[in-house]
Amino acid sequence: MNLNMSPPTHIPVLLQETIEALAVQPGGRYIDCTLGGGGHAAAILDHSSPGGQLLGIDTDPEAIKVAGARLEAYNGSALLINENFVNLQAICLKYDFLPVHGILFDLGLSSLQLNDDSRGFSFQHDAPLDMRVSPSQEITAADIVNNSSESELAHLIKKYGEEGYSHQIAHHIVQARPLSTTLELAQIIERATGGRRGRIHPATRTFQALRIVVNHELEHLEAALKQAVNLLGFEGRLTVISYHSIEDRIVKQFMQQEAKDCICPPGAPSCICGHTASLKLINKKVITPSPAEVQLNPRSRSAKLRTAERIIIQDEQYGTVEKLCFSLEVNGGGWRRPALLKKLRRTFLDPRLIIFEKMNKGGFENVRN
Ligand SMILES: C[S@@+](CC[C@H](N)C(=O)[O-])C[C@H]1O[C@@H](n2cnc3c(N)ncnc32)[C@H](O)[C@@H]1O
Repeated sequence: MNLNMSPPTHIPVLLQETIEALAVQPGGRYIDCTLGGGGHAAAILDHSSPGGQLLGIDTDPEAIKVAGARLEAYNGSALLINENFVNLQAICLKYDFLPVHGILFDLGLSSLQLNDDSRGFSFQHDAPLDMRVSPSQEITAADIVNNSSESELAHLIKKYGEEGYSHQIAHHIVQARPLSTTLELAQIIERATGGRRGRIHPATRTFQALRIVVNHELEHLEAALKQAVNLLGFEGRLTVISYHSIEDRIVKQFMQQEAKDCICPPGAPSCICGHTASLKLINKKVITPSPAEVQLNPRSRSAKLRTAERIIIQDEQYGTVEKLCFSLEVNGGGWRRPALLKKLRRTFLDPRLIIFEKMNKGGFENVRN
């Protein structure tokens, strides 16, 4: 049943594929780390009814407001938190939301943010060069454009935008600054690159690079993926939708590495890493939108969906006193029952956090990664 009354303002990408990838089931607990307009979240709640629960996270307070209004009809099945997913583990500990059946990352920006004239994400609108997803971030795109050296600018435009004209763009920026608006920057980039060549606007890659740097997107993604694995219950699913090759590479390499038992360098005489596979790849071939979806929603065109499944029962990883209790409960098929969660959650945690918990008598307020 779809309880949505208001028209969607952001069209969720690969929606059906995401629900299938997460294997959403009635009564399941899910985390949407990138709530946005709440489109995926609403579908997860629909498919996990009755009894499903959703923890929705977004670093943009505006997204929390919009998604909050959209998900109001789900009567308390959704807990929405205005936070950065880099703190995923601490958030789950604080709200006692683990283990979970599925975790979704739908990376990048929503149409709400891209269409907002005041945010500075798009060169289609004239706006201050801001690009902060969260207003609590201190550094804006203008700070980077106006204060970095020419070589620093060229480096970040090359590295995070994969832009072939990075040196020319950096040089033109330095000659023209201070810059304060998106259109000023876009025009300089057009001049530096000799104008539009293909279908992609010449400013696309530089805007991507600046946004990645302003919001620490890649560092936050890498940190959150590591935390996500330990929050999944046995057979829980991790699904990530990315929109550019740098993000997709991080997701692909992370999942591939976590699906291997040994990650020693090739040619090592014997294994010294002690690594154990914690994930199984679900779709070895990346899932992309159909031509029909791209036609309906052109912003979906670069989307890539990858999914992996947790294969380790947590006590195999953290052999402790809780091991026996956990094994008994798992063998009884009971780990999904909420009453067990409190008892079992300790077996999911990094042992350092358990020590921290003992020291602080259960206070997780200060746990940050
Ligand atoms: C593509 S949108 C998600 C759209 C959503 N799936 C929907 O169906 O409406 C990505 C969202 O992730 C949020 N976001 C980006 N980086 C984040 C981070 N590090 N922590 C939390 N939220 C983040 C953005 O603010 C944005 O709202």
